Amino acid sequence: MIVARTRAELETALARLPRPLGAVPTMGALHAGHLSLARCARAENASVALTIFVNPTQFLPHEDFERYPRPLAQDLALAEEVGVDLVFAPPVEEVYPPGFATTVSVAGPSQRWEGVCRPGHFTGVATVVTRLLNLLRPERAYFGEKDYQQLQVVRRLVSDLALPVEIVGCPTVRDPDGLALSSRNVYLSPEERQQALALSRALFTAAERVAVGERDARALEALMHQHVTAAGLEVDYLAVVDPVSLEPVSEIRHPARALGAVRVGTVRLIDNVALVPPPP
Ligand code: PAF
Repeated sequence: MIVARTRAELETALARLPRPLGAVPTMGALHAGHLSLARCARAENASVALTIFVNPTQFLPHEDFERYPRPLAQDLALAEEVGVDLVFAPPVEEVYPPGFATTVSVAGPSQRWEGVCRPGHFTGVATVVTRLLNLLRPERAYFGEKDYQQLQVVRRLVSDLALPVEIVGCPTVRDPDGLALSSRNVYLSPEERQQALALSRALFTAAERVAVGERDARALEALMHQHVTAAGLEVDYLAVVDPVSLEPVSEIRHPARALGAVRVGTVRLIDNVALVPPPP
């Protein structure tokens, strides 16, 4: 496995890799969710490149940029284990060289939910994803459904800018009790982790109701709200939305998505599930 720190090292490494290339952009602190993206990329491409870059521009000033976990040696070992060919782990100035003055801003699917709670976050994501895709020029890039809104923003961006890459969304990986894997789960105390389970349980309860014929989106949102507040979680949003535009829906006649963001102590968690109504 090659590790590139600079754009020059990246270019040299890319020239040696057989195509097609699958890219897995990450911020490191790799867990089984990231590894499933890498395995998926491994199965569908001749080469796999994984990027590790804690992108400063997608964190708000009060957020956890400084304390975000950066276990690089462990990440490199895990990447090698799942068959990654190239890791690009650049310092900030390789991604944002002096004079860097461009931002990529996506409207549409980035406007609600995380877009409201974390203003500017998706501009940071869209800018770094565009930059990384242009540096790596992969045929495919893999993103987790765990960050469902991010996945839709990236799809919109790639379509609108006609970037020559196929975006592949991969299912959320969960602990056996349902908690969606996230690099930020390490911040949870054992008690907070127990409380946090209410989020995935609420989302899955909504999915079960939809599967047996519930169509009223507002009733489902109220039900999810009850679940998570009973567990002592603070709600940022719990919403039933169109799976592509992420606009709220009122009646579930077609597949939809339930999205949730909650706070437990100082930790903020997001999760989502597909809502699939029964056939008519
Ligand atoms: O999902 C992430 O880890 C990040 O938002 C991404 C896509 C690597 C951009 O920094």
